[in-house]
Amino acid sequence: MSDAPTVLIMGPPGAGKGTQAAHLRDHYHLRHVATGDLLRDAVAHDTPLGQTARTYMDAGNLVPDDIIIAMLRELVESLGDEEGVLLDGYPRTVAQAEALDGLLGELERHVNVVLDIRVPAEVLVHRISGRWVCRTCQTPYNVTSHPPKVAGKCDLDGGELFQREDDAESAVRHRLDVYEAQTAPVSDYYLHRDVLATIDGNQPAEAVQAALDAAMHAAV
Ligand code: AP5
Repeated sequence: MSDAPTVLIMGPPGAGKGTQAAHLRDHYHLRHVATGDLLRDAVAHDTPLGQTARTYMDAGNLVPDDIIIAMLRELVESLGDEEGVLLDGYPRTVAQAEALDGLLGELERHVNVVLDIRVPAEVLVHRISGRWVCRTCQTPYNVTSHPPKVAGKCDLDGGELFQREDDAESAVRHRLDVYEAQTAPVSDYYLHRDVLATIDGNQPAEAVQAALDAAMHAAV
């Protein structure tokens, strides 16, 4: 049985998963795996996976489970025995959660904690309309709550900031509906396994980070 932690961060579009992941990765020495970033990279490189994923992503729909689970299998199998992992944006369906349990079980690992960030829908729509993301390192910025020091440039590596195709308001509202229908049941799945930590994400990023740290200390 491996002691290396498996941590999940979930929440609707714009909840702050990407914003908080960098701290969790660095502070708890976790490999950060964001399925959305992997898919966007595949789209940018026009790979067969990217060509398939693009149509689903641009419309704000989930990429089919069989594609995502195959991608996850490869990642989980590449983890070192003592390597902790932070999964961001996975699982998004109960079928993906069940597949993850199976994969982790094969490696004598299990999910230690699920950090479930909750934010009201109207706040999310407003946040996403002001989001800009670094093309190089994927760090998210916000024109209101977290502007870059130099307009259009990433503070960390000077990369170009861009707005995502799926951040148009109509796509965001559809993504929120998809989340309610397909991903909210994943919270119940983990609630019943006693690993769910619900985090109030409708507060300043520093306060969200403190709440995440408290949940991490209680769990790992
Ligand atoms: P993905 O990239 O995972 O997007 P998402 O879940 O929709 O989440 P976001 O990246 O939009 O938001 P976030 O929670 O990271 O928020 P952020 O920190 O940027 O997935 C994209 C697509 O890929 C999916 O729609 C689907 O098609 C596909 N996909 C991915 N995984 C899949 C899977 N497992 N199965 C099937 N399909 C999959 O913050 C948002 C903004 O708010 C930023 O501007 C930020 O600066 C700001 N902000 C953050 N925190 C705060 C705060 N506390 N107060 C004020 N502002 C804040």
